[in-house]
Amino acid sequence: MKTFNAKIMTNQSVSTRYWQITLDVSAIDMPVQPGQFFHIQCGDAWKNPLRRPLSVYHYNRELRTLEFLYLVKGTGTQQLTLKKKGDMLNLIGPLGQGFTLPEQGALLLVARGVGVATLHALAREARSENKRVHVIISARTPEDLLTVETLTHIGATVHTVTDEEETSSVESVRSLSEKLIREEGISAIYTCGSRRLSKLVQELADEYQLKGELATEAHMACGIGDCYACACTIRKGNQLKTVRVCTDGPVFPISQAVLQ
Ligand SMILES: Cc1cc2nc3c(=O)[nH]c(=O)nc-3n(C[C@H](O)[C@H](O)[C@H](O)COP(=O)(O)OP(=O)(O)OC[C@H]3O[C@@H](n4cnc5c(N)ncnc54)[C@H](O)[C@@H]3O)c2cc1C
Ligand code: FES
Repeated sequence: MKTFNAKIMTNQSVSTRYWQITLDVSAIDMPVQPGQFFHIQCGDAWKNPLRRPLSVYHYNRELRTLEFLYLVKGTGTQQLTLKKKGDMLNLIGPLGQGFTLPEQGALLLVARGVGVATLHALAREARSENKRVHVIISARTPEDLLTVETLTHIGATVHTVTDEEETSSVESVRSLSEKLIREEGISAIYTCGSRRLSKLVQELADEYQLKGELATEAHMACGIGDCYACACTIRKGNQLKTVRVCTDGPVFPISQAVLQ
């Protein structure tokens, strides 16, 4: 983990509510795991001292570029959209614990909304090891379905469901997931972006004895384990434990997640 400045190569909207930013990180030599995040100074450090956490969307080791896909939500992400090509961005990272791949078998990734940004990096890593990857992307509208083409291009099989088309209920996602688990040799299941889908993935991992991991979100201040702003509860055996999402997570075994 280090603090560094990176030059912005592109920063543009990819749909009504989502933007993608690409940084030149050629000066930095660092391993970056899918599921890890960077803590980003989005605007003026004096007026807005709190950084914003964004997961790695794509780290290109050869080109030494780092990309993030972000939902424009409030002050921080709005300020990020104002950054132009050639501007410098200050980051801390890579931070946190990332995903782990199964030794064998195919992966099933279940993402909702911008949660697909986090799972996209995992899909790439798995495809680079020639593992089969199925991705269920759930969104409000067809326009909000992100990264379908990119994921298809890298050889993942993408299944989309939306609220608008009334295909995104938990029951629908369950029957699609169960079909894939039974027919496609799924050995591991991962999720990000929705509490109700996380509960579903937790149940499926338990019922079908799959390796399962969840990328969680929490409001963060320091991002490096000092302030406990991101504390959450996990289950270890019969005990409940308080952990920090920024250092102990953001990725946890799905069996440990406490989902109300
Ligand atoms: C580990 C991690 C990875 C993330 N990866 C991505 C990503 O790849 N793409 C993406 O679009 N978003 C991601 N998020 C969510 C993103 O950090 C928030 O949407 C963003 O901080 C909102 O800031 P804002 O100023 O625009 O919004 P505001 O709502 O104005 O934010 C106000 C405060 O709340 C915090 N906050 C608000 N929503 C969230 C949230 N959902 N999670 C954590 N903190 C929040 C902000 O950090 C800020 O301190 C991630 C969050 C975490 C914890
Ligand atoms: S954000 Fe400070 S401990 Fe996690």
